[in-house]
Amino acid sequence: MSQILVVGNALIDHIYEVGHYPAEDEELRATSQTQTLGGNGTNTVQVLQQLGHLCTLLNTFAADSQGEWLRQQLEQQGIEIGYSPVLAGYQTPNSVILLNQQTGSRTIIHHRHLPELAQEALNNLPLAQYDWFHFEGRNVEVLPHLIKQVRQHQLKARISLELEKNRAGLEVLIGLVDVVFISQAYWQAQYPHLTPQQWLQQLSSHYPHTIMTLTLGKQGALVLDKGAEIQHVTVPTVQVVDTLGAGDTFNAGMIAALCEGQNTLEAVHFAVQLAQRKVQQYGLARLVKH
Ligand code: FRU
Repeated sequence: MSQILVVGNALIDHIYEVGHYPAEDEELRATSQTQTLGGNGTNTVQVLQQLGHLCTLLNTFAADSQGEWLRQQLEQQGIEIGYSPVLAGYQTPNSVILLNQQTGSRTIIHHRHLPELAQEALNNLPLAQYDWFHFEGRNVEVLPHLIKQVRQHQLKARISLELEKNRAGLEVLIGLVDVVFISQAYWQAQYPHLTPQQWLQQLSSHYPHTIMTLTLGKQGALVLDKGAEIQHVTVPTVQVVDTLGAGDTFNAGMIAALCEGQNTLEAVHFAVQLAQRKVQQYGLARLVKH
């Protein structure tokens, strides 16, 4: 069992399952409505906890009733949230999600009125006790300070970074971490004229000491282990019902497998299989069967 700190978002997802993706101005009845925990950091930490690790989530929470509910849900799962600031005068972020029954696609509309973590966010944490630190790629101004602070205090632990949304300034963080998990959306937003392989190869030439993965949905994932050859791990075709949080699940699978001593390629195989299991079920509950 490893101790893992995840620095990432916590919010509420309102999921509406629909028979088809609506046209503009259409009125559509959802077949189900669910309220659940969301946010990349939160999704990843829930899967890591299920995989048997001891996890802390660091994030800002709003001091409203939704924030209270979120914190209760996380605590019930045994996730440490005591180091996360609770801020008055703000709102818990919410996402409205259309889950298309025909494809399992998830269309997300997100609202946020809550500050990101401040530069002092790690000051009270027992950094030496963690084996792994994972950062969601957001909060571009503060993240470099937090990652450098971890490096200064914790030389043994490994650090990972998720690059999902294409936010200016995130790329420089790659050189500060050991492992980077890149989403298909990030690659597409950056260099759509290059194939994922070409782009990853190019990126890796700037950061030869970093392990990089690039997830490609139904096509599985690419992995590049510190400048070595790119490997493509494919997955069999399955019946997809819900892709929400699949990338976050992949990241959790990678972190767990690497913490357990698997090599990079074994870790990618484990992570794509876990993500594959996720897309065949609704939500993240009981993803890991004991
Ligand atoms: C899925 C997710 C959702 C959330 C949205 C935030 O990866 O974390 O749970 O609503 O993305 O961007």
